[in-house]
Amino acid sequence: MPKLVWFNGSVSPLESAQVPAADHAHLYGDGLFEGIRFYNSRIFKLDEHLRRLYDGMRFLGFQEPMSYDAMRQAVIDTCAQADLGDGYIRLNVTRGTGLGLDPRAVKTLPNVMIMINTLALYTPEQHEAGLDVVTTSWRVIQADSLDPRLKCIGRYAANIMAKREANMQNAGEGLMLNQQGYVAECTGDNIFIVRDGVLRTPHPSCGILQGITRDTVIELAKRAGIEVREEFLTIYDITSADEAFLTGTAAEVIPMRSLDGRILGSGSAGPMTKQLVAAFREEIKLGTPYLVGTTA
Ligand SMILES: Cc1ncc(COP(=O)(O)O)c(C=O)c1O
Repeated sequence: MPKLVWFNGSVSPLESAQVPAADHAHLYGDGLFEGIRFYNSRIFKLDEHLRRLYDGMRFLGFQEPMSYDAMRQAVIDTCAQADLGDGYIRLNVTRGTGLGLDPRAVKTLPNVMIMINTLALYTPEQHEAGLDVVTTSWRVIQADSLDPRLKCIGRYAANIMAKREANMQNAGEGLMLNQQGYVAECTGDNIFIVRDGVLRTPHPSCGILQGITRDTVIELAKRAGIEVREEFLTIYDITSADEAFLTGTAAEVIPMRSLDGRILGSGSAGPMTKQLVAAFREEIKLGTPYLVGTTA
């Protein structure tokens, strides 16, 4: 069964999978998600994604639907059952099923969904040429309203509106600033720039999701002896960068060609971007392997 959904322990083909109508994320966005890639039957950064998910559950006061180890095994077994080789896992945990905003209306354990699918967010041509990005009018949600580390389903309404705005300008991505006007992130990925050989990216306190691909790239850069700075960046910093790129599980590591019509650097992927894309391509070989042929 190639594309499939594991929902609270039952497996169905993707096309016929169903979630309860009164699921609390369906009703109120009261849930968490992780997008995780697997490459060549190895799940990339599985534990980092699970840790973020379990931290989110604790923050939102969800009951634990299953132990960390059981969740980890369910993801591995479901991947093995799908046997897709390369693909994308959407792991969702919602508060559970119940009508009414009050969490006490939810009498069930959290609902857990493990979807095994494929996802090609950008074309090979876009990965080669780089993305044209526009600054959107949508600001990231303030950290004192909702901690940006929380990968909560409900917060994505703002990102979807920002993505629509970018789409209307035929841009590959939309940049979001924070309330102070500093650069935060794009709608589904983090941003990096290179200037004078230094790799720079917004500090987590700018209101970004602390992306797992971002952390990976920082680690790869440090390993290569590159100086990395997490700081407060403005649009001016982006437009005067020598190179820029975006990172995310779905987007992977992709060069950025322009911002608001201004070409960045040389207008094609720069040497440090290429070096980090190559290092990332090596790193994805080190994911958690799953054994094809076993069942979920
Ligand atoms: C708003 C936002 N920023 C950044 C990212 C990148 O995070 P990660 O590298 O963990 O996928 C994502 C990915 O889901 C995202 O939704």
